[in-house]
Amino acid sequence: LSWYFHQMSVQLEGIRFEALFMNCTRSLGASFGAEVLDFQLTGTPSGNDIAAIRELWAEHKLLLFRDQSFDEAALVGFSRQFGDLEIHVREEYLSPEHPEVLYVSNIERDGQRIGILSDSEVGWHYDQIYLPKPAVGSLLMADTLPPEGGNTEFADMCAAWEALPEATREKLDGCLANQSYEAFNQAYSVPTNNKQKARSPDIHHPIVRTHPVTGRKALYLCPGMTTEIVGWHADESAEMLVFLFDWTTKPEFVYSHAWQPGDALMWDNACTMHRRDPFDPHHDRLMKRTTILPPAELAVPY
Ligand code: OGA
Ligand code: MN
Repeated sequence: LSWYFHQMSVQLEGIRFEALFMNCTRSLGASFGAEVLDFQLTGTPSGNDIAAIRELWAEHKLLLFRDQSFDEAALVGFSRQFGDLEIHVREEYLSPEHPEVLYVSNIERDGQRIGILSDSEVGWHYDQIYLPKPAVGSLLMADTLPPEGGNTEFADMCAAWEALPEATREKLDGCLANQSYEAFNQAYSVPTNNKQKARSPDIHHPIVRTHPVTGRKALYLCPGMTTEIVGWHADESAEMLVFLFDWTTKPEFVYSHAWQPGDALMWDNACTMHRRDPFDPHHDRLMKRTTILPPAELAVPY
């Protein structure tokens, strides 16, 4: 366990009050990630809670909140404290009441899937890396879980970058990579319609990005969506990407989350990528996600 103190001072009629707030966190047993203990997410968190969560989120990259019982309105209200929320291009999978909430699910209603990503394996990806100003965070809450399977794994892309040989870092820094939602959909999802395709064409982003809060660099590529390093010979690009995909998913950089009812995970989408294990299609799984945008001046290519 570690105690996390958050100090605040208030000036009232010339008198200064100091207040000390405290959150308790527990390691998730990997090199990053923390469980925030005794914390209920609500749609109207206090200013102190927002500040504390912001710091913990940047420090640990992945926050777990257990035993939560909040609804979609609270999920949206809480998430909005950390930035504007992206409305996902897959409008067929949005919550009917709250378009900021994306359903990730294999459940069918009236012959239609209500959510994205169904029940098979989902490859490593950064959420929406294919957009011009990609999200810096996502919050995913478990609504309905299968008895087993469907673990979500995360990789620490700051640590992966920092551990690379210096010569490789020098070779990569300043390069752009092509990010393709189309490639991801072909491998792990279903095709987009023409309107959605027009909203998510391939895009080039720096292969190494600077984190908007910590200033640390992180590898910004993922096996599911990164197709080539721009301007490199095709063979060299493919060889480097295979090496990097292998490197970033080494066990020392990875945490695997086995979901429990009431879990909510908030991840840093500027320096972690994630994937999901398959699960038995005979069981229902429904997860609800919000996607948090950065302030424009701190978005990629910063
Ligand atoms: C997501 C995602 C994986 C999962 O919501 O962005 O990749 O565990 N979900 O369903
Ligand atoms: Mn995702």
